[in-house]
Amino acid sequence: MPDNRISRQFLQWLKSSGITHLPTVNLPEPAKSLKKPKAGGRVTPRPAAAAATSAGKQQPARPAATPAPPARPAPLAETVAILEKPMTTAAEKQSALQLLGDVVAGCQRCTPLAESRQQSVFGVGDPNASIMFVGEAPGADEDRLGEPFVGAAGQLLDKIIGACGWKREQIYICNVLRCRPPGNRNPLPQEALNCREFLDGQIRIVNPDYIVCWGTVAAQNLLQETRSVGRLRGQFLQHGNAKVLCTYHPSYLLRNPSAKKQVWEDMQLFMAQIEKDQGGQAGEAGEA
Ligand code: URA
Repeated sequence: MPDNRISRQFLQWLKSSGITHLPTVNLPEPAKSLKKPKAGGRVTPRPAAAAATSAGKQQPARPAATPAPPARPAPLAETVAILEKPMTTAAEKQSALQLLGDVVAGCQRCTPLAESRQQSVFGVGDPNASIMFVGEAPGADEDRLGEPFVGAAGQLLDKIIGACGWKREQIYICNVLRCRPPGNRNPLPQEALNCREFLDGQIRIVNPDYIVCWGTVAAQNLLQETRSVGRLRGQFLQHGNAKVLCTYHPSYLLRNPSAKKQVWEDMQLFMAQIEKDQGGQAGEAGEA
């Protein structure tokens, strides 16, 4: 990927995390001309002190180092080992999820989140579900109870699930992050990358046919997208084996009840697609 695209994505990530200003760094003027290297091709760098003395004045302070762009950490050996085992039957999937959840419980990658969490919030639901829901991150209630979507947004999500004719236990529910960000701020790009291994692991184990991304954070992270959920909704996108539908987050609906109409349209589209794929069994969320 070209560097300028990484930088653009990084800046968009910062923006979606609520960071609108970065400290400016005064970079030195580029050198107008370079001394030709001596015969042999090497230029010996002069010690900074000698250079400063010969220039007769102090050198300007070095510019502050630019923070490294967020990077995905190498996968943990434990995760790799878990995902190498067979994961076909519901029992195998259940066991793999349990083991991966244990890895997550000990994760310290995002030090401040690991220090402030009451517990990690891995995921819940049918290990063999054909539908997976992906949210943003645990809030205070989820942090306290260890289960995703159990607070006010979760109660609204349960109503949406019921209106679609499904039961919560038939769906597998997880988040982009498994630890609560302080004050419920948006996940930072590095936090999302740190946790991506676990989201990918859960998707690989459950192997859903359909994924619903609830909100911009879920949609952009899962799909590596920069468009907002308002632009991504109302259509199916693909992620691995799964058809993905993005729609507004239940927390957004609590603040903007008029958007419920669009979410309901999205869910109708979702159910119609399942019905089309499965030949008229849209209510059976747990079975492919
Ligand atoms: N919001 C989310 O995105 N996930 C939760 O688990 C709870 C609230």
